[in-house]
Amino acid sequence: MKVKLSPSMMCADLLRLRETLHTFEEEQIEYLHMDIMDGQFVPNYMLGTDYVSRIRRISDIPLDLHLMIEEPEKKLGWFSPEKEDLVSIHVESTRHLQKVLDGIRQCGARPVAAVNPGTPLCMLEEIINEIDGVLVMTVNPGFSGQKLVPGTLDKIRRLRGYLDQKGREEVFIEVDGNVSIENAVRMREAGADIFVAGTSCLFTDGDLAEHIRTFRREVR
Ligand code: DX5
Ligand code: ZN
Repeated sequence: MKVKLSPSMMCADLLRLRETLHTFEEEQIEYLHMDIMDGQFVPNYMLGTDYVSRIRRISDIPLDLHLMIEEPEKKLGWFSPEKEDLVSIHVESTRHLQKVLDGIRQCGARPVAAVNPGTPLCMLEEIINEIDGVLVMTVNPGFSGQKLVPGTLDKIRRLRGYLDQKGREEVFIEVDGNVSIENAVRMREAGADIFVAGTSCLFTDGDLAEHIRTFRREVR
């Protein structure tokens, strides 16, 4: 699978949002990663429904909705998922995982199962045929600027092996947290396809377009 970039919009400079989105369109960015946090599932609040719908109005790039919320089955409709959007549900966040993944499919969007660093891969066993991708958290969710949890690299590798062995070669692996270029090279080598790009690679000093080009050159 080709490497895809999903910049983390919680890390973007709000005062330069239009310019940032313009650069993303010019550089053919594949997804916009929207971190939704409810202060319950994770100890932080982030990106509300109005922000999501405004971004949708001013950009044609598909959204990558990362729901870090309790009872996502009750709130999916708040975000009006659309065709081509990715919607990630944490397996730790709901008792109704199959139902909510199926709900995403019914909206025409693409269901993704997210796993925290401490969550074993066996949690995916019963829903492996319901998903288009797995989001492997490479830090504990809630905050940008954290350090990679080292064991997650091997977890990506084991997940790729597991998916292939089950005949699910087309299921992508997305990685989120401390995706620096150096870590991304190792994540790619382990089997990652979609990279959530936050403060570790894109939203840092220097030119945004240049950072994107460097990433694409180094991570293949
Ligand atoms: C949390 C977020 C973060 C962050 C990624 O769920 O998705 O992982 O924005 O950016 P870094 O880790 O590079 O600051
Ligand atoms: Zn995220």
